[in-house]
Amino acid sequence: MRPNPDQPFLSDIQEIRRRARQHMEKGAVTDGYKANLETVLRVLNEALVTEIVCVLRYKRHQFMARGLNAQSVSDEFAEHAAEEQTHADQIAERITQLGGEPNFSPDGLLTRSHSEYKEGKTLMDMIKEDLVAERIAIESYSEIVRFLGNDDPTSRRLMEEILAKEEEHAEDMVSLLDRVGKQGL
Ligand SMILES: [Fe+2]
Ligand SMILES: [Fe+2]
Repeated sequence: MRPNPDQPFLSDIQEIRRRARQHMEKGAVTDGYKANLETVLRVLNEALVTEIVCVLRYKRHQFMARGLNAQSVSDEFAEHAAEEQTHADQIAERITQLGGEPNFSPDGLLTRSHSEYKEGKTLMDMIKEDLVAERIAIESYSEIVRFLGNDDPTSRRLMEEILAKEEEHAEDMVSLLDRVGKQGL
C-alpha cells in the first residue's frame, strides 16, 4: 500500500468498510484480527474455569472460617469470591464477543483449571492455599498476556486488568497470613 499523507496509519478506509460488511455474522472478529482465534478461545476458557474454581474455593473458605479472626478473614474471602466471579463473567463475555462459547460445564472442572481446589483445615491453611492459587493465576495470566501480545489487544487488556487484581489478592493473603500468624487462630 502506498503511503497516503492524509491517512498515514490506516489502511484504505473503503477497504476496511467493505471488509467490515462482508462477514457481519462474525461480530467483533474482523479480517484485521491477528490472533489464532481457536487458541485464544481455548486459553480464555482455561482462564474462565480457573476463575470458577477460585470462586468455589473462596466460598468454601468464607463459610468455613473459624476462630478468633474468623469474621474479618471470612469477609475478605467473601470479597475475593465476588471479584473472582466478576472476572469469570468478564472472560465469558469476551469469549462470546469473539464468537465462542464459554464452558461452564462441571465436567472436568478441576483438570481444566490452572488453580487448585484445596479446602484447608485451619484458617492459616486456607489463607496459604488461597495465596498459592493466586500465585498460580498470576503466573498463568502473565503468560496469557504475553501470548496475546498485539494480536488481540482487547483480550490482552482484559487479562492485564484481571492480572493486576490477582496481584492485589496475593498481597491481601500475605497480609492476612501475617496478621493471623501474629494474633493466632
Ligand atoms: Fe480472578
Ligand atoms: Fe484472585
